[in-house]
Amino acid sequence: MKYYLTTPLYYVNDQPHIGHSYTTIAADAIARYKRLKGVDVFFLTGTDEHGQKIEREAQKRKIPTQELANQMMNRYKSLWQLLSISYTDFIRTTDDRHKRAATHLFTILYNKGDIYEGRYEGPYCTPCETFVKEKICPDCGRPCEIISEETYFFRLSKYRDQLLSYIQENPNFIMPSYRKNEMINIIGEDLIDLSITRSTFSWGIPIPISGAKDVMYVWFEALINYLTGVGYPDDKEAFERYWPADLHLVGKDIMRFHTIIWPAMLIASGLTPPKRVFGHGWWTINEEKMSKSKGNVIDPFEIIDEFGPDGFRYFLLREIAFGLDGDFSRKALIHRLNSDLANDLGNLFSRVMKMVETYIEGEVPERADGEYLRDIALNIANEIETEISEIRFQGYLERVWALVREANKYVDQKKPWTLKGDDLNPVLYNLLESIRMLSIFLFPIIPNLSVKMANCLGLDEKDLSLIDLKWGGLSPGIKIRYVAPLFMRIA
Ligand code: ME8
Ligand code: MG
Repeated sequence: MKYYLTTPLYYVNDQPHIGHSYTTIAADAIARYKRLKGVDVFFLTGTDEHGQKIEREAQKRKIPTQELANQMMNRYKSLWQLLSISYTDFIRTTDDRHKRAATHLFTILYNKGDIYEGRYEGPYCTPCETFVKEKICPDCGRPCEIISEETYFFRLSKYRDQLLSYIQENPNFIMPSYRKNEMINIIGEDLIDLSITRSTFSWGIPIPISGAKDVMYVWFEALINYLTGVGYPDDKEAFERYWPADLHLVGKDIMRFHTIIWPAMLIASGLTPPKRVFGHGWWTINEEKMSKSKGNVIDPFEIIDEFGPDGFRYFLLREIAFGLDGDFSRKALIHRLNSDLANDLGNLFSRVMKMVETYIEGEVPERADGEYLRDIALNIANEIETEISEIRFQGYLERVWALVREANKYVDQKKPWTLKGDDLNPVLYNLLESIRMLSIFLFPIIPNLSVKMANCLGLDEKDLSLIDLKWGGLSPGIKIRYVAPLFMRIA
């Protein structure tokens, strides 16, 4: 079994913010979950480094464009490291391998007659790097530039019927399903050929047509990275193993590129479209769009510094149903972390650890049958499989919290402090085993805290697995090592 998933390639003209973190954390959670299931995961992320706005930003800062790209690319890489993002590969659109792949695909389409010469005249939104019909960009609300240049077009309109049938025959292709109609309407009403080259600046991949000075339109080329990442066109073995992608995870802003232009490019080149594109919602700050000009951009580095990588990960995935928009606030963040991580989970963890240390000298007792905790835990293992396949992190965590709550209740009911010997041991075993289960279930979402829990039980990251999950995996006789509270309450 393989699973190939991707994030967008983020533009390197700007600092990474919580929006970029969101998509990447979500992808990481899915990748980690699939690995727990024993799946061969390929998780691709990276940076989108060509195009006019990046060239202009570099000119503004008076540094070479590649230098700007290098700096910002590193900024993304450090953020992903801080957030424990377990990507398989980080791709840059300035990589030679990507230039080769893009050139290869362009040539196929050109030889086939799907790329032709023409002239584009009309509005262009440089911040979004999109050709639009309006003078004000319908996506970002900023004024467009009027461009007028000789260009090459891709025969997008030719693929209308094939696109529509692909969407119809693959009901899970566009998710959430409430984004489907908008895409179908665009295809039905609005599908015109796409200008795919630019000739008024040079920061891009040159097109393989002799005599032409154009570079490829940044979107046309950037999408091809999803092929480059798994070896296209040289490494046929890797490519055949991983393509088609199982999931492109993107924000709702770029659904159109991923569900219309991209599959059309693939169909035209004789390749299979991705199995699924999921467009998640938008984070706002006090109900407003984040933007440099408003000065309300939240710096993820600061949030991580203050609340830790897992706190940030947990909040983003737990607070809002994946797909819908959400508002980011410190208050909501602190409330969520205190109530779920410090109170519910943290208290369970520390009270159990302390009881095991003081009542039975920190040694895991004989196995016990788990009573109702066992059924709840094993049931959760099934439920989260559904939640992940529908990409519902909130639901995933709600399910897992049933075990946190029930285990806390179990302590209150059993009152271990009143028990001794054969009455006490099974109760403590059941609680420790519940904590082991929780460390597995939570590994995709809060990997560092989860490994911390596992370590206290004498287990390592490699012991965390969802393959053949059974009650009783924790071996008697292990010395538990309780070091510190799991998650400190935030004042
Ligand atoms: O579009 N809330 O790159 P980009 C949630 N280079 N997610 C957000 C967000 C927010 N406020 N802001 C950004 C590009 N995102 C192209 C992609 S792919 C071949 C090329 C996330 O740097 C979300 O995933 O503008 C969105 O789709 C992406 O960042 C846009 O990143
Ligand atoms: Mg953008």
